[in-house]
Amino acid sequence: MTLSSDLKDRLFVVTGASSGLGAHFAQVLSQAGARVALVARRREKLEALSDSLTSRSGAAPVIAEADIRNVSAIRAAVADIVEQAGVPDGLINNAGTVDTTKALEVTEEHWDSVLDTNLKGAWFFASATAEKMVEAGRTGTVVNIASITGLRPAGAVGPYAISKAGLAHMTRQLAVEWARHGIRVNALAPGYIETDLNREFFASEAGQALIKRVPQRRLGQLSDLDAPLLMLCDEASAYMTGAVIPVDGGHAVNAL
Ligand SMILES: NC(=O)c1ccc[n+]([C@@H]2O[C@H](COP(=O)([O-])OP(=O)(O)OC[C@H]3O[C@@H](n4cnc5c(N)ncnc54)[C@H](OP(=O)(O)O)[C@@H]3O)[C@@H](O)[C@H]2O)c1
Repeated sequence: MTLSSDLKDRLFVVTGASSGLGAHFAQVLSQAGARVALVARRREKLEALSDSLTSRSGAAPVIAEADIRNVSAIRAAVADIVEQAGVPDGLINNAGTVDTTKALEVTEEHWDSVLDTNLKGAWFFASATAEKMVEAGRTGTVVNIASITGLRPAGAVGPYAISKAGLAHMTRQLAVEWARHGIRVNALAPGYIETDLNREFFASEAGQALIKRVPQRRLGQLSDLDAPLLMLCDEASAYMTGAVIPVDGGHAVNAL
């Protein structure tokens, strides 16, 4: 990738950095020369990632432990990051949770857990971060990690899919409201990306059947997200805001 020149020393907050996509995004941004702040609940995982990034880049990430379902915890985490490393240049709003309960069996607890994390948490993380940017008279960029299930219905993932549809619309809404502050808001909508958590499922018969519905007939790899992520973080995409970009091997536009 050659887009990364203006990411050098810029500060990006990555939520959900303790595993999967978030840990990968933190590595990609750090390799591009950015400084990173890592947010999640499992501090030990953040510390392990921080040690590995520090040994590779020489710059120690900031760690902020927070449960993003709690708005006070979000505000405390953002204040802590600003105090330790300054006002962020960007936020990767990635933390999320999935629930595979069938619609008729979804309880209030299932609903709240998914919506409070994926939608309310993402909203308040973005607004708490943007508030600091605006106060400091700084521009910035927010990249929300949505999902193709927010663009088209999928199996038994109702609250999850609805939260991601909300996140896609939140992307457009905030893009409009914050354009006057020079804050761009875009989203990536990944398809099925292979991670440690789903590798076993995708090796199964049901998983293989699902892969056949992807026009490119393969799962996404974490590295498939690198270029889209760096593009949205980089000023090379300065005229992009309010975009929700599928990264899915054509899955969301597959023929009926
Ligand atoms: N993998 C895919 O195929 C795929 C496809 C489309 C979209 N996505 C989206 O990508 C994002 C990351 O998914 P993933 O596959 O990497 O899942 P993952 O490995 O389960 O990671 C989820 C991350 O979110 C954090 N998190 C969850 N609840 C939180 C809370 N209440 N407060 C703070 N942090 C919380 C977790 O950290 P702690 O548990 O340490 O708090 C973890 O770091 C999600 O938004 C997901 O919807 C994934």
